[in-house]
Amino acid sequence: MKSTMAKKPIDTSFTGLADEVRDTLRWAGAQLAHRAQHVPAAKALLSAAKDIREEVRVVRERDPAATSDLEVLLLYSGLHAVLAHKISHKLYKNGHLFSARAVSQAARALTGIEIHPGATIGRGFFIDHGAGVVIGETAEIGDNCTLYQGVTLGGTGKDTGKRHPTLGNGVMVGAGAKVLGPFTIGDNAKIAAGAVVLEAIPEDCTAVGIPARVVKCKNEKVACEANRNLDHIHIPDPVSQELCRLREQIGGLRRSLHT
Ligand SMILES: CC(C)(COP(=O)(O)OP(=O)(O)OC[C@H]1O[C@@H](n2cnc3c(N)ncnc32)[C@H](O)[C@@H]1OP(=O)(O)O)[C@@H](O)C(=O)NCCC(=O)NCCS
Repeated sequence: MKSTMAKKPIDTSFTGLADEVRDTLRWAGAQLAHRAQHVPAAKALLSAAKDIREEVRVVRERDPAATSDLEVLLLYSGLHAVLAHKISHKLYKNGHLFSARAVSQAARALTGIEIHPGATIGRGFFIDHGAGVVIGETAEIGDNCTLYQGVTLGGTGKDTGKRHPTLGNGVMVGAGAKVLGPFTIGDNAKIAAGAVVLEAIPEDCTAVGIPARVVKCKNEKVACEANRNLDHIHIPDPVSQELCRLREQIGGLRRSLHT
């Protein structure tokens, strides 16, 4: 296998350096793959490298601020936490509970993100910024989910066994949102920044506020009356109801002004 690096002129800028390092890693990976096809330890190393590349790709796709693979690899704490969780989850599944927890706590100290080793996480998971994220033991996260800083996927303290939420595929949970309890957030749902979710949210819906209420489904706004009928916490919230009425009146006035 030939290296393509030698032909390039030397570029001393940061981006140039990043490209050089990326090319070197790619070349080294290809060499390793070629020579170590029958060595189990090398195979494991290659599979880990593949995982890391996949995680870097996910961050580059979802964070417009990311400027290079090297920057993502070295400086994104969300990525470090996800990679550490892959190790701690494997240890947890093999019954090494103390070591699993040790890895998870070390990652927490480094990144400010606490993911319990027991949590199940799908592919393409991205934690943006990360600080203050807590993911509980029985939480389950589908593929291609995104969490922002300060998110808790936790329990209410009232449940035993499965006590943390399940996120479907493509779920986004905004900064500071708390999702508490063993219910499901449907595929492609959006949880607004600062929301506190205490009940299941259907797929393709947006939930906002405290306690969270569904305000949009399949890109259509949910009418206030429908929202009240969803009865998310079994107790009507008079302030929210009044706001709903006012919003409906404003909507009516706007419509009459335009006709
Ligand atoms: C909820 C969110 C995902 C938008 O989803 P959306 O489906 O496009 O919803 P819309 O923007 O159409 O908003 C729907 C309604 O919810 C309200 N809303 C949106 N975000 C809200 C929030 N965080 N808290 C309370 N209400 C919110 C909107 O004002 C709108 O109300 P209206 O119907 O009275 O006009 C987005 O507002 C959000 O919170 N993203 C989180 C991003 C984040 O955490 N970024 C951190 C970067 S560091």
